[in-house]
Amino acid sequence: MLWGTLALSTALVGTRLFSVTSAAPSAPDPDPCARIAGKQFVVPSDALACLKVFPFNETLRQNVLHTVSRVFDFFTFEDFYLNSPPPFQESTSNIRAEIARINSTMYATDFDFNKDLYDFITQLNDGHTRWFPACYVSAFQNILPAPVVTLGETSLQTSQSVFVAPDSVELLTLLGSNFTSFFDSIHFDWQRLAGAKVLSIAGMDPYTYVDLIAHTVSGNYLDHGVRVNSVFSSYRIVDTDFSQRVGDLAGPPIPDQDSLTFELIPVGSSKPETVTIPYLANFLGVPFTDKESYWANNCAANSATNGVDVKTQGSIFSNARRQPGTDGRLQPVGNIIATGPANGVDLPQQFQPTLPQVNASAGVIKSYILPDKKTGVMFVGSFEGDFVQFQTDTVSAFNGFKAAGVSRLLIDLTNNGGGFVCLGQFLHQFLAGSEIGYPGFQSTTRGNALAQKIVTSDIALGLTPDQVFYSPPNWAFFNDTPFPETHNYEIPTVPFVINGVQDPTSQRFHDICTPFNVPIPETPMIPLENVAIVSNGNCASTCAMFSTLMNERHNTKIAVFGGKPGEPVQFKGMAGNQVLEWTDLDTEIKSANLKDDPLAPPDLLVNSNFRHNWRIAWSFFDESKPIAYVSELPKFQFAYTNETYNNPQNLWEFAAKTLFD
Ligand SMILES: *[C@@H]1O[C@H](CO)[C@@H](O)[C@H](O)[C@H]1NC(C)=O
Ligand SMILES: *[C@@H]1O[C@H](CO)[C@@H](O)[C@H](O)[C@H]1NC(C)=O
Ligand SMILES: *[C@@H]1O[C@H](CO)[C@@H](O)[C@H](O)[C@H]1NC(C)=O
Ligand SMILES: *[C@@H]1O[C@H](CO)[C@@H](O)[C@H](O)[C@H]1NC(C)=O
Ligand SMILES: *[C@@H]1O[C@H](CO)[C@@H](O)[C@H](O)[C@H]1NC(C)=O
Repeated sequence: MLWGTLALSTALVGTRLFSVTSAAPSAPDPDPCARIAGKQFVVPSDALACLKVFPFNETLRQNVLHTVSRVFDFFTFEDFYLNSPPPFQESTSNIRAEIARINSTMYATDFDFNKDLYDFITQLNDGHTRWFPACYVSAFQNILPAPVVTLGETSLQTSQSVFVAPDSVELLTLLGSNFTSFFDSIHFDWQRLAGAKVLSIAGMDPYTYVDLIAHTVSGNYLDHGVRVNSVFSSYRIVDTDFSQRVGDLAGPPIPDQDSLTFELIPVGSSKPETVTIPYLANFLGVPFTDKESYWANNCAANSATNGVDVKTQGSIFSNARRQPGTDGRLQPVGNIIATGPANGVDLPQQFQPTLPQVNASAGVIKSYILPDKKTGVMFVGSFEGDFVQFQTDTVSAFNGFKAAGVSRLLIDLTNNGGGFVCLGQFLHQFLAGSEIGYPGFQSTTRGNALAQKIVTSDIALGLTPDQVFYSPPNWAFFNDTPFPETHNYEIPTVPFVINGVQDPTSQRFHDICTPFNVPIPETPMIPLENVAIVSNGNCASTCAMFSTLMNERHNTKIAVFGGKPGEPVQFKGMAGNQVLEWTDLDTEIKSANLKDDPLAPPDLLVNSNFRHNWRIAWSFFDESKPIAYVSELPKFQFAYTNETYNNPQNLWEFAAKTLFD
């Protein structure tokens, strides 16, 4: 609410007065959804009018809050939030008090209720623990034709300024003519803003406004510094393509703001000017024709909303989760869900690497040999996609590196949103050699009463690791022998106290990721002191676990780019361990015949996902602490420059010189 209000109150300040003609009808429009049906881009307030057409409904609130509150029983970090330790104190929240507050607040619309719940859970800053009502979040993404970046004239992190991304014309043109023609139709010249130096945003110092977005919009990452980098535009790989995020300032997932006022100096000018820049909302939901069909297609629960009983309905994990792994086990996943269509925007071709790929792969890893002929680069875009190909691509890259006599390796983890837990452990062991033994962390789930009943019931029913995650043989003792089918690792629980609250865990266990699908070298093929990692700190989940393993066990050189001048950025963004989507948890409960238990959450009546962090990874440095709460800073922090923020190859060449020579 705060930032929307601030932006509106300053929207009229300025020399280039501008107003979006969002027909504000004098009589309430009986169907604001019908007005915008079929359009790809709409004025944000028109989109918002459609989202706000559904009145508040107490039945839906009770349904949602009952599910949310019982899923929180499984959330490993609930009690850490009561007093989130420094430097993560910004995330402190009393989760049960917030639920009670939302249960007793008066809301005018269903949107207002969902937005309040969404903001509270987003601001826990854990990408594994998110409330995503499909009706309201990412149905429309708001886009400002002025994505921002923080750049230095040199790589010195302390001297940077905020700019409109110099490549914003090349980037946003890729959104297509429906986007650009809107600005033509209102005679708003956004192209001239590219590269402008930003002096203020919404009347505030630009970094203060960036902090506000990092605090209220970004979510996903416990560390404020990492969220600062989410606010800016940055390069990444989506699926298997080079892409550029527009960032959370220019691409928020809810269309609740029509414009934002900047004070800036355009390229080629020396005179500051004030420009009010309109947002435009991009529809990404399921098509509709009026409010009834908007609700039916986007908001009402559907056949995929809730979980199933695998004993009678088969597995919901038809494809992605059932990738060939060890013994057909379900593959645990740790990832964030990147919302928004920035997903669809490619990194403009002219900024993509020009070097030939080593054994050009169609997968999530892009590998190169730099012109110095000594440095191999692996840009690991995620740990998702094809489970086996990730491993064979790694082998091919190393064959290529070996043939070329490469002696050092740079791994780029920029905007890596995580993925299969076992692929993080694979890359760790492939680099460090099988001689290191177990390549992961000690792990636990929460020891609540329903979790205990689930494991007891799974054992009684003979449920297996290819059906449910709670099945004991999914996990192993510390000597890496799998738990027997009858080993109830939730009984007895292990005492744990955090912030003065008793919060027992399951017994500790290891993941079972080995044997991998490719042979693992016994010793490092490239000496680990010649391996370095670069990223922007937006390294989520499995990515955070991989980089933490490299830091904690091998003291790997890690460099983070970006951040505010002089403010540290952690190299791991969000280091939960395994995430369960709402359907996953509900499937565990239904398959264990416990859906009628008084502690079980009800089926959702709306098309939403409430995912949560289900497992903890305990730090090697201090096995009483989850790695999520261990502050680990990179050895190096650099500013992006206009040469590197959108140009991975330039960044790698800079990093190779700086980190290795
Ligand atoms: C523009 O939007 C219309 C719907 O309003 C859509 O049919 C058309 O395909 C879009 N054009 C492009 C180039 O995306
Ligand atoms: C509230 O939602 C429930 C569940 O979808 C529905 O049955 C009921 O009709 C709604 N109430 C009103 C007043 O619309
Ligand atoms: C919300 O408050 C009502 C009234 O006090 C109570 O009956 C209900 O159980 C509460 N719902 C949740 C989810 O806590
Ligand atoms: C590519 O992969 C093949 C087989 O994995 C390997 O023999 C070759 O050395 C690799 N490198 C190059 C540059 O082709
Ligand atoms: C980056 O900025 C410098 C001046 O600071 C300029 O000389 C150079 O051309 C710019 N490079 C790019 C890629 O825009």
